[in-house]
Amino acid sequence: MSALTGKSVLLIIGGGIAAYKALELIRLLRGRGLAVKAIMTKAAHEFVTPLSVASLTGAKVHDHLFSLTDEIEMGHIELSRSADLLVVVPATADLMAKMAHGHADDLASTALLATDKPVLLAPAMNVRMWLNPATRRNADQLKRDGVLFIGPNDGEMACGEFGPGRMAEPIEIAAAIEKALTPQAKPLAGRKVMITAGPTREPIDPVRYISNHSSGKQGYALAEAAVVLGAQTMLISGPVDLPIPPGVGMIPVETAEEMLKACENELPCDIAIFCAAVADWRVARVATEKIKKAEGRAPSLAMVENPDILRTIATRTDKRPKLVVGFAAETEKVVEHAREKLAKKGCDVIIANDVSPESGVFGGDRNKVHVVSAQGVEIWPEMTKQEVARRLMDKLSELLPK
Ligand code: C5P
Repeated sequence: MSALTGKSVLLIIGGGIAAYKALELIRLLRGRGLAVKAIMTKAAHEFVTPLSVASLTGAKVHDHLFSLTDEIEMGHIELSRSADLLVVVPATADLMAKMAHGHADDLASTALLATDKPVLLAPAMNVRMWLNPATRRNADQLKRDGVLFIGPNDGEMACGEFGPGRMAEPIEIAAAIEKALTPQAKPLAGRKVMITAGPTREPIDPVRYISNHSSGKQGYALAEAAVVLGAQTMLISGPVDLPIPPGVGMIPVETAEEMLKACENELPCDIAIFCAAVADWRVARVATEKIKKAEGRAPSLAMVENPDILRTIATRTDKRPKLVVGFAAETEKVVEHAREKLAKKGCDVIIANDVSPESGVFGGDRNKVHVVSAQGVEIWPEMTKQEVARRLMDKLSELLPK
């Protein structure tokens, strides 16, 4: 008897050539003790027959939103909620677009909109369709909504083209389903994580300040991911326009000096991640009154250096966090500069990213990072800031001394 025995999956079969793989998937899932109910879209009927699906699931196939007999036996809302997980195989470009925009014009899209359970998509489509900006936008939106993805893989497609868009194999999808249905391990339970995020704001006078364009998105995503892994999580954040993720403690700060003080107050902690874009300088003497504009005479502001929060915490002899992580926003020679920074700041890991204007990282939703540590350099593919956060927190929980 496996851990999955007694759990159930609602399999939504979309209309694509890869639909035939759904049959093999049903066989694998039933072999693992899972109950499987299936919905077929209208287009799915062109690729597999309801008779094959019903024979393998051992249950009736649902395919009509307005079926009187189906509604009497089990309403479509109940159908989408009685399962532990909804899986879409293949997730076509059209189904993804419907989901991203909340459409509910057939049984499949209605079940997906009405569910309160996790949803896993196995996309399959022509490479151009997968790479089309509309599909990219929809996939990003769905990931932000918490929808899980498996694949697509790179490979040769039924249409003869090659690239990303080929559906993951049934064995991979079955493994992703098993993972989604297994309660998440909480490797950071009992651990404390502190994260700086956003810009700092350095006053010039009561109405003016020096700051930068940091959105705080990556730091907030990290806090959210740390909570999922069970950590007691503290965000020390400069002014940003983002909601505080559920379960995260928040200390709002404005200046670099306030941020440093707040970090010191949060010690001891297990992991400290310095994601904030701290202003390098502040005005030496903040004017107590608004500086008056004088025709033809601009004021000159004497500046002093701000404390380096990361270096201050990383080089402490007492209460140094077990793992200190910095970010390096670079516009060139990303890895080389990150290696230098690792040594200069005394931290354990540097997450280096390219923030040149053409990268779109600053303020954007995606990030492409290099993870630089004493163990070497890992080059990660471009992904959403949420995905970077999840992967990074997983990695840090492995690196954290026991
Ligand atoms: O030196 P640089 O600003 O490139 O270093 C970036 C890293 O150092 C980031 O992790 C940032 O949060 C941290 N930092 C800091 N305090 C500063 C400047 C940078 O914590 N004053």
